[in-house]
Amino acid sequence: MSYREGAERFYDLFGAKDDAPFYIELAHSHGDRALELGVGTARLAIQLAREGVETWGIDNSPHMLRAAEANLRREPPEVRSRVRLELADVRGFNLSERFGLVYFPSCSFDHILLKEDQVQALSNIREHVAPGGVYAFELTHIPELKPESGWFVQEKTLDEHRGVVRTGYHRTDPEKRTMTINLWYELCHDGRILERYFESGEVCIHSPEGVRALLEEAGFEVEAWYGGHDKREFTPESELMVVVARPS
Ligand SMILES: C[S@@+](CC[C@H](N)C(=O)[O-])C[C@H]1O[C@@H](n2cnc3c(N)ncnc32)[C@H](O)[C@@H]1O
Repeated sequence: MSYREGAERFYDLFGAKDDAPFYIELAHSHGDRALELGVGTARLAIQLAREGVETWGIDNSPHMLRAAEANLRREPPEVRSRVRLELADVRGFNLSERFGLVYFPSCSFDHILLKEDQVQALSNIREHVAPGGVYAFELTHIPELKPESGWFVQEKTLDEHRGVVRTGYHRTDPEKRTMTINLWYELCHDGRILERYFESGEVCIHSPEGVRALLEEAGFEVEAWYGGHDKREFTPESELMVVVARPS
């Protein structure tokens, strides 16, 4: 995804997530020291820090990191002191640190399109997992991949006068196992468009077999494989693959 300047202000308005308890529990059981990959607006990192977890976050988008810093400034000093943000790309980073939990939430690994980049990212991630630690992530699971496309419109109210409309178009290519996504954000005041932003990109649609093969190639073994953050069983119909892996 492009994550262009401006739209990062609206990112957390859409797509409410219930992933925090899952990652907080994993962090608590692995030394309360975590690294979030693709930290975005620090939505999750801040929730971990509020629960006492020292949380580092990397992202390759300066706009997202600026939004994260703004969100962090609204937190009390003890929470702020537990979060550290760095501009870095998962395909080539070295923090010279290890963490009990390294996590890549919100299906963000699917942003890495090339197989060699995926393996390189996983190898880098492995170097940041502390002894006894884990790497956790989730990815979208599409039970039956078909050529599909469609539009959607979502609206969120900001206050009495202002709202944000997000219009999206997606197209799936089953042969390439990719999905193209276009998003338009419109900030409206009493029905008049004040600002408009456009984001676009392509994401990879992973299969369970493909994920297992990638993990193995990068030196990980699977510890747990769920169908949701509530640790429900993964079935062929699951819409999410939630995976906990450890260096083998
Ligand atoms: C779907 S958002 C998730 C944000 C945040 N983790 C959350 O759960 O709310 C994906 C984030 O990953 C970042 N990202 C995408 N590719 C990346 C890469 N190669 N290296 C580092 N960050 C990346 C994007 O800039 C974006 O902030």
